[in-house]
Amino acid sequence: MSAALSTSTWGAYDGRVKRFTITTPIYYVNGLPHLGHTYTTVAADAFARAKRMQGYEVLFATGTDEHGLKSEKAARQRGLSPQAYVDEMSAKWRSHWEELGISFTDFIRTTEPRHKQTVQAILSKLRASGDVYPGTYDGWYCTPCESFYSEDDVGEERLCPNDWCRRPTDWVEERGYYFKLSAYQEHLLEHLDAHPDFVLPDFRCNEVRRFIERGLKDVYISRASFKWGVPLPFDRELVTYVWFDALLNYVTVTGYGQDEERFGAFWPADVHLIAKDILRFHAVIWPAMLQAAGLPLPRRVFAHGFWNVQDEKMSKSKGSFVTTADMADDLKRTFGADFPTAVDAIRYFLFREVTFGLDGNFRWQAFRNRYERDLANDLGNLFSRVLSMISRYRQGEVPRASVDPQVKEICEQSAARYFDAMDSLKLHEAVGAFEQLVQFLNRQVELYAPWKLTGRDEEGLDRALYNLVEGLRFVTVLSLPLLPHTGEKMRQALSLDMPEPRLTEGLRFGASPAPVRRVGALFPRKTLKQEVAMESSPQSLQIEIADFQKLDLVVAEVVEARLHPNADKLLLLKLDTGAGQLQVVAGIRGSYTPEEMVGKQVVLLRNLKPVTLRGEVSEGMVLAAEGGDGPVLLVPERPVSVGAKVR
Ligand code: MSP
Repeated sequence: MSAALSTSTWGAYDGRVKRFTITTPIYYVNGLPHLGHTYTTVAADAFARAKRMQGYEVLFATGTDEHGLKSEKAARQRGLSPQAYVDEMSAKWRSHWEELGISFTDFIRTTEPRHKQTVQAILSKLRASGDVYPGTYDGWYCTPCESFYSEDDVGEERLCPNDWCRRPTDWVEERGYYFKLSAYQEHLLEHLDAHPDFVLPDFRCNEVRRFIERGLKDVYISRASFKWGVPLPFDRELVTYVWFDALLNYVTVTGYGQDEERFGAFWPADVHLIAKDILRFHAVIWPAMLQAAGLPLPRRVFAHGFWNVQDEKMSKSKGSFVTTADMADDLKRTFGADFPTAVDAIRYFLFREVTFGLDGNFRWQAFRNRYERDLANDLGNLFSRVLSMISRYRQGEVPRASVDPQVKEICEQSAARYFDAMDSLKLHEAVGAFEQLVQFLNRQVELYAPWKLTGRDEEGLDRALYNLVEGLRFVTVLSLPLLPHTGEKMRQALSLDMPEPRLTEGLRFGASPAPVRRVGALFPRKTLKQEVAMESSPQSLQIEIADFQKLDLVVAEVVEARLHPNADKLLLLKLDTGAGQLQVVAGIRGSYTPEEMVGKQVVLLRNLKPVTLRGEVSEGMVLAAEGGDGPVLLVPERPVSVGAKVR
């Protein structure tokens, strides 16, 4: 096994038992989950699954943030008591995560008695130490963000200063209590110096540092004007400010005050996964609260970016609000994917599409393309080709044969890169390592070309099939944190039946062959009439299938068309290939005008060596039949995704 698999760079160790604690934010219950919430939760799920597979005992917590003015107002609008309202909404969040197969191990609600006890215990402790003290507050409050702002923050328009909010704020003037955040400024800076991984990615850490260096003010932590919150134990007229209450969920869920053994084992958390919107609460106020309470700080706070939808901030009124159900419906309509398969595809898209930590932009076409290319074409075909060759050439028995050192090396390197990336929360790099392995094995199928060996070199065929199945086992193990449902199907197909904490044992190249079973298409594509039987040997043709496969034929869309300035038979076409644009000079001017070309889908030979034709570069060739009156374009019989392969 590679070194990286046994030298995890982080994680809580307790003697022989390896433990790992990861949390998501606890979500507000005044709405339902959308793409953004799903992103954080599925990412946390992937990390949790990877750690379990490495033999860690994992505490993976998510939950709901139920107190505060926002919930109280939402309950009033529905004509319900706050408690009835949050009970209903919290249950919806929980069942949503269950439907998505999220492997959380605890779901915390801030209205639970275990949590109220934590809040009151910590408040009493901080009141006694003087870290919480009485005062009066006057300033502005943004209810959607549940945040206090100064005159300068809100400006003349009195709008919430958060870029992603910008909604009107309300004036607040009341008596209450403050937390002495200012006293922790130096401690926090020292902590950042001593723990460069405390806030990730690095650029977020710099932001936090600059914010602290500008000087910290004490924060107001109670509310007097409404009752929906945890009463202050030393002043029962008042309730706790919702953020002070919410942050403490992380210690409640690990057992604070209820189960010291659990708390000792699972606190401090290894990762608080959040987005950039709530970074200051997590990287400034929260560690100061913990320092004041004499509790250890979390190991890492990772703030990922924000998703927009089709270049817009997600908003119901603009129709740019996307949920898991919308995305799954789309894959069902377009490809016939069932819900669990669609959930895997959503995870894959979210993990693959952006560098973890940066903002993302969701586009429907990009989402479908990933499904079709990365999952159906690359991963799905690899799996079905190899398994059907085993069934066809070896009646389903994986032959015993010698290890191909190159395949072994690439598999082991990919697994090492994958787990290193997972350990350092570089989710996109882990997916990259996975994807490259799939692509490598697809190329390896072509190189071995088992269909050429049958009847001619049976030993070579055994070796090819054996090494490909070994490779599939690596793909399967690495897929499980990313694509749990599909991974499970692949695992069954390969008879990989060790329990989850021992799954990395599957990453030993050269194990004895286990029986394999064929599976149906992992990622269906109802638009394709038939899966092409790519492994068959086309003896009736003049060329080998491998020769044909050298042609990179795809469907492209014409985005611009004009007359060639120096040739009267040629048009200049700018084509969207799904992976960028390119220019093609096409000899179709007699048959087509530039105007009728724009928006048309054509079949493009993409890997033709570029040439210059009468001063214009042509980076490919558009296919046409020789009609009696001039060329007739070959076009898909009905629209398909741009970039779809032509076979
Ligand atoms: N209740 C607080 C968190 C308390 S944690 C102690 C809260 N809740 S929230 O429902 O508004 O969730 C915010 C979180 O949802 C973000 O930090 C992020 O994890 C996720 N996202 C919400 N919208 C998002 C995007 N548009 N893009 C990516 N993630 C986003 O804040």
